[in-house]
Amino acid sequence: MSSRLESLNTWVAEVARLTRPQAVHWCDGSEAEYRALLARMQADGTLLPLNPDTHPDSYLHRSHPDDVARVEHLTFVCTRAREDAGPNNNWMAPAEAHAKMDALFDGCMQGRTLYVIPYCMGPIDSPLSRCGVEITDSPYVVANMRIMTRMGAPALARIEREGHFVKGLHSIGELDPERRFIMHFPEELTIKSYGSGYGGNALLGKKCHALRIASWQARQEGWLAEHMLIVGVETPDGQVHYIAAAFPSACGKTNLAMLIPPERYRRAGWKVWTIGDDICWMRPGPDGRLYAINPEAGFFGVAPGTSARSNPNAMATIRANTIFTNVALTADHQPWWEGIDDGKLPAVDWRGRPYDPANGPAAHPNARFTVSAKQCPSYSPMAEHPQGVPISAIVFGGRRASLVPLVFQARDWAHGVLIGASMGSETTAAATGAVGVMRRDPMAMKPFCGYNFADYFAHWLSFDRPGARLPAIFHVNWFRKGQDGRFLWPGFGENLRVLEWIIKRVNGQASAIDTPIGLLPRQTDLDLEDLPLSDEARTTLFEFDREGWRAELASIGQELDRYGARLPAALRQQQQRIAKALG
Ligand code: GDP
Ligand code: PGA
Ligand code: MN
Ligand code: MN
Repeated sequence: MSSRLESLNTWVAEVARLTRPQAVHWCDGSEAEYRALLARMQADGTLLPLNPDTHPDSYLHRSHPDDVARVEHLTFVCTRAREDAGPNNNWMAPAEAHAKMDALFDGCMQGRTLYVIPYCMGPIDSPLSRCGVEITDSPYVVANMRIMTRMGAPALARIEREGHFVKGLHSIGELDPERRFIMHFPEELTIKSYGSGYGGNALLGKKCHALRIASWQARQEGWLAEHMLIVGVETPDGQVHYIAAAFPSACGKTNLAMLIPPERYRRAGWKVWTIGDDICWMRPGPDGRLYAINPEAGFFGVAPGTSARSNPNAMATIRANTIFTNVALTADHQPWWEGIDDGKLPAVDWRGRPYDPANGPAAHPNARFTVSAKQCPSYSPMAEHPQGVPISAIVFGGRRASLVPLVFQARDWAHGVLIGASMGSETTAAATGAVGVMRRDPMAMKPFCGYNFADYFAHWLSFDRPGARLPAIFHVNWFRKGQDGRFLWPGFGENLRVLEWIIKRVNGQASAIDTPIGLLPRQTDLDLEDLPLSDEARTTLFEFDREGWRAELASIGQELDRYGARLPAALRQQQQRIAKALG
């Protein structure tokens, strides 16, 4: 088979000449094709079937133990001019990067099948959607791409019609961390990824295309490609308010996107609708509001911590037709992870060894599930809407054990851009390296912005123009800790109480106090009824610590210095204004 698009056929032929596969398979995305892939992967041990009585059509994949997360130190943005990649990215000259990658790809698919995966990011009929083609030698990647994107014949038809697509070349290579690179060539709309099968490194539609390449395209075309969930909150009057929220990896996006309202809210008529849990593409509509789509079709969610109590929607979503990666198993082959809270015990750990606590957690801390969004009970029909949903509020947030209050609001758009640009968060297991180290992660895009952050901040600022009706901007922190080192805020479903205040602020129905860092609710401005909050929580979550914020603003100032003269002056002015107000 081949396509009606000459440039696609030529590229596939070139790649096949370089990588020398045993066979070439063009993916049509059909059920039969998926079944055949699953059978093949069960035969060679790539997938283990889970207990069919409790988890029908679900599988466990155990990755190479050194291939469990994104590798930010091996991820590069290869622009002609180094400054275009910015201090926020690893950079390599395009010619050097191509040469390096092509040497790795040389002959790497011998004895393997080369799969051609045409995919569409976003609803197939949406003008906001963008297409790509991933070439891979990993059936696991094909199966995951089928869940995570609109993959196969309809995507190919759109690509043939449009005549252009993002090119992604992937091989698992030898799964050797010494021979592993994730390279992006935004000027060529090209990705080359070698040596990893992990989602964020290998499902090229996701981080590589929908964030790094798309953010570059978005800047040129006047839209935004963001690391954000999209959630619809239906208030008792039947109105749905859409909120987009940027939290770093493993900081609560999937959970917030699938939130189930606390009992009292449910009875009052509140509902929550899931649009997306990781990526948001948005652009100004004719009415000046920002309209957003979720470019993905599935969830690649963190398993540990997911339970019937913390995220019942996720648990319902993954009951069947799910691929689990690096979870543990119970004696009767059910998936298991820390925090699942199901009363069962792990028998085999994520590496396939009999479970022994001396070896660490039973599931890898970054164990994941891949599942179709359509299986989520709260999945919104609006997620398939070609024009997207209008965004009422943008929320930034991260893991901050100290200083940062539960919620505050930006004074205006430029202040909101500064709040996003100065986000900090403690690192998590979603990327290799130390966990729990505070780092700056502007707009949760540190690992994902395909160009210089200074230009990115300027792009964000540019949306504030005549005729724009921009969302209000907020910052949240679900992860503040008390003296005893435990989280002060119950989080999960209770986060709706914060979303309620946010929606009321947008509608001019809630009050706030003016502080140098922004508009803070008083305890009494939030509905905290029935919440077992300690006195410490009641004060700490709402407090504005002037002394602490002075140090924070100084640290933010240093962060902005990294971008030198390229940094937009408006951002520096915002930082100076706040620093001055703090005295
Ligand atoms: P994502 O990677 O940003 O989508 O984050 P997830 O929603 O998958 O959550 C990552 C981890 O943080 C999981 O272990 C969750 O159980 C935990 N988590 C999510 N939301 C909250 C919250 O509101 N409070 C607390 N304490 N933990 C949370
Ligand atoms: P996450 O997605 O944001 O849900 O963790 C994967 C990632 O960012 O690596
Ligand atoms: Mn993510
Ligand atoms: Mn997630």
